[in-house]
Amino acid sequence: MKILSIETSCDETSIALVEAGGGIKAPRFKVLKHIVSSQKALHAPFGGVVPNIAKREHLKNLPIIFNTLSPKPHSLNPDIVAVTVGPGLEPALWTGVNFAKEIRKKFFPKAKLVGVNHMEGHLYSFLLEQKGIKSKTQMTNAKTYPAIGLVVSGGHTILLLMKSLTEWKKLGETRDDAVGEAFDKVARMLGLPYPGGPEIQKAAALGDAASVIFPRPMMKDKNYDFSFSGLKTSVLYYIRDHEEQSKNKHFVEDVAASFQAAAVETLVYKTTRAAQAFKAKSIILAGGVAANRSLRETLRGASKKLNVDFFAPPMAYNTDNAAMIAAAAYIQTLKKKNRRITAQANLTL
Ligand code: KG4
Ligand code: ZN
Repeated sequence: MKILSIETSCDETSIALVEAGGGIKAPRFKVLKHIVSSQKALHAPFGGVVPNIAKREHLKNLPIIFNTLSPKPHSLNPDIVAVTVGPGLEPALWTGVNFAKEIRKKFFPKAKLVGVNHMEGHLYSFLLEQKGIKSKTQMTNAKTYPAIGLVVSGGHTILLLMKSLTEWKKLGETRDDAVGEAFDKVARMLGLPYPGGPEIQKAAALGDAASVIFPRPMMKDKNYDFSFSGLKTSVLYYIRDHEEQSKNKHFVEDVAASFQAAAVETLVYKTTRAAQAFKAKSIILAGGVAANRSLRETLRGASKKLNVDFFAPPMAYNTDNAAMIAAAAYIQTLKKKNRRITAQANLTL
């Protein structure tokens, strides 16, 4: 079936057309069309996303992207129009929800309207097409589950025990800042632009990760929760106590590398501990922070050591995008699960 999907939960406006098939045992996705328009540059001067600017830009960009995707909308002929209903910024979510309703009514009255949980989109993004890895069939068979899912974004840090592709239990989550939020805040402290994650990664690649030993809050605690606020505060104090050096390029690179090492070690430690405790057969990484090379590679290496499979989205589908919303809409439809088509800012996994 063909799914037209819309994502506007934060500061990316995205529409995709995805061909989905294979059923719940072996879902397969082919991304036919996909456009992501980022507003990051507009929010950068404010150091973070401004909800009203996000709303204004989504309203402006949605019709432009839709027209670019297909000048003849009727020809898209989707079976499903899917839209992110939450979690996210409420004014931003509404723009997508209203646009989805509008185009369905106008162009695709026979299509089913499906509301999607943004975090499920992230979780299923590893199923989107990618070259050179195991077939999607293997990803859903008995060799894959139980799996440990680590979902890391700007708003969430969640560890899941997945019994199957659609059944899971939350093992833990952050008690304060999400890890992506910590990357963004530390970048800001170091004078790096928003969004901070990719900037920290760039600076860290040139720095010495052993130059400062930052704390790893809650890492050795028995539970599976995380905390990144203490780490962020330690970085703040370190910068404040080294004001003289803080403008130095090497200082920024060393602090970025040391912070990234602390964040990655904490995430990898708890994820692998969960994988051992629950005899997981695979580890699934998802969310915007999955774009972080150090996290990806460290978790991939740790999975290999444990002899479990490792899955992460293709690079184009780590950060917010509409293709992942189509994947989640397909799986949700197979499970015959309906969601209200209304903005739900606090939806969770
Ligand atoms: O999933 P996402 O696009 O949006 C949310 O749902 O929040 O995640 C955005 C987050 C931001 O905090 C951004 O700084 C972080 O993902 N991020 C990264 C990298 N790329 C994006 N963090 C670390 N390293 C990266 N390469
Ligand atoms: Zn996201």
